[in-house]
Amino acid sequence: MLLKKCEACSALLITLAKGERTIVFIHQCQHVPSQQGSYNHWFDGMAMLHKFKMEKGQVTYMSRFLRSDAYKKNSERDRIMVSEFGTVAMPDPCQNIFQRFFSHFEIIKPTDNGNVNLMKYKGDYYVSTESNFMHRVNPESLETLEQVDWSTFVAVNGTTAHPHHDPDGTCFNMGNSYGGKGSMYNIIRVPPEKFNAEDTLQGAKILCSIAPANFSQPSYYHSFAMSENYVVFIEQPSKIDLIKLVTCKMRGKAFCEVIYWDPNLETILHLIDKRTGKASPVRYYTKAFFNFHQINAFEEDGFFMLDLCCYGDGQALDIYYLQNLRKSGEALDEVYNSTSRAFPRRFVLPLHVTDDTPTDQNLNTRPSSTATCVKKSNTKVFCQHEDLHGDDLYKYGGLEFPHINYERYNTRPYRYFYGCGFRHIFGDSLLKVDLNDKTLKVWHQKGLFPSEPVFVPSPDATEEDHGVILSVVLCPSQDKATFLLVLNAKTFEELGRAKVPVNMPYGLHGVFNASA
Ligand SMILES: *[C@@H]1O[C@H](CO)[C@@H](O)[C@H](O)[C@H]1NC(C)=O
Ligand SMILES: *[C@@H]1O[C@H](CO)[C@@H](O)[C@H](O)[C@H]1NC(C)=O
Ligand SMILES: *[C@@H]1O[C@H](CO)[C@@H](O)[C@H](O)[C@H]1NC(C)=O
Ligand SMILES: [Fe+2]
Repeated sequence: MLLKKCEACSALLITLAKGERTIVFIHQCQHVPSQQGSYNHWFDGMAMLHKFKMEKGQVTYMSRFLRSDAYKKNSERDRIMVSEFGTVAMPDPCQNIFQRFFSHFEIIKPTDNGNVNLMKYKGDYYVSTESNFMHRVNPESLETLEQVDWSTFVAVNGTTAHPHHDPDGTCFNMGNSYGGKGSMYNIIRVPPEKFNAEDTLQGAKILCSIAPANFSQPSYYHSFAMSENYVVFIEQPSKIDLIKLVTCKMRGKAFCEVIYWDPNLETILHLIDKRTGKASPVRYYTKAFFNFHQINAFEEDGFFMLDLCCYGDGQALDIYYLQNLRKSGEALDEVYNSTSRAFPRRFVLPLHVTDDTPTDQNLNTRPSSTATCVKKSNTKVFCQHEDLHGDDLYKYGGLEFPHINYERYNTRPYRYFYGCGFRHIFGDSLLKVDLNDKTLKVWHQKGLFPSEPVFVPSPDATEEDHGVILSVVLCPSQDKATFLLVLNAKTFEELGRAKVPVNMPYGLHGVFNASA
């Protein structure tokens, strides 16, 4: 694959090495349709699918709102009818007083506004948020296909928008259940086989259920880690207050307001065997940290290497209220200064801890990592991380939206990861970290805000970083100046820009799909 910029018009010219390959990059963003009422939080906007298609040297762009029930109800009434993460829908003024009274006492209905991520199950594309609802979508036309409800297949109240998959297509995800016995964390396995064309999540099973440290206060989590043989669940001190959750509609509170950070707790790492579905009796404790995204995880000589983007506290959920984001100048700086940044860290977990394992000494014999792990009792190991960066990362504001060469290196030893630097409240640089010497490569231009960097390998790649980085870049100071940026992943040199004459909002996650 060869990408280069046209000297005259700066359009992107793409020469495809292997004939007629079509390449589709789908990026998902958020947008608030015009209607009465407004959303409170960055995570609340109506899901919109964006697609850049590169074919025969041309880049085309299209977008479409997800036709979710939330979107349809909002559009019909021209007001917010469905509660989102940071916004609670107020009772409809057209209802009579009795209906209104009772609707206050219902639990907030989960939204199906799949605005967080795009993912594949059994070869089909789905969009998802963190509720029990997903939608199948057509990646070619961006049409909304059927709604799929996780809770009709497995007893969960929602799942993360960051599943993992094995090379054979088996998918793993996690979700909380809030049932009669109290809350549980559940690991879900979705088989790769499709029994017929209509098949969605058929065959999904709960592989393992883990009891929270406190049943009435399960943790919030956004993703989890997976190696070849294990899943690691990160139980962080970001707590969902279930008592408040049940009454939050009555109190006019949104979901994000029932999540709170308890700095007195430690973060607990749970190790689950993917084959047996058994959780290890040994738990790994660390100093409290908050995490949205894992970078990679792999096993090496009896250790589980866990790489994560970590915050010192759980405030990250609080700052993305739109009332904060609408600020400017010093007021916006103040919001930015009030929260911690995410930094990449490695934890090293010893997989085989027995009664004979000595206590109070560092068990990490891996010369490649300075992380430590010390057995405290037969069921407790305390871990201290290694920083996966040099001092220069502080000046780029840390790293979020991590991406790797997933298809070839997820669950395997690897050398490179990519992400956005956050010297601003939104990502304002693209970064590449080389784990051999923790050096950085940086792409940054004043006034431009690049989104999550998606790594696309060259079709004939022989090296881990042989390929390109795709990122949607916003230029808020100019009208309709959004572009798809293409970088050489090895050198971080710019190869080209495909300009799209639209204003796109700053989005979350995207995927790449190469189709023949
Ligand atoms: C979780 O799901 C169960 C079964 O579908 C439902 O009865 C319950 O209300 C849900 N709980 C919450 C907090 O949404
Ligand atoms: C669970 O959390 C609640 C609220 O913070 C607390 O009152 C209760 O003691 C906790 N239970 C346990 C077992 O720690
Ligand atoms: C934010 O922090 C920076 C760096 O510490 C400082 O220079 C700046 O004055 C702070 N701004 C506000 C408004 O707090
Ligand atoms: Fe995410």
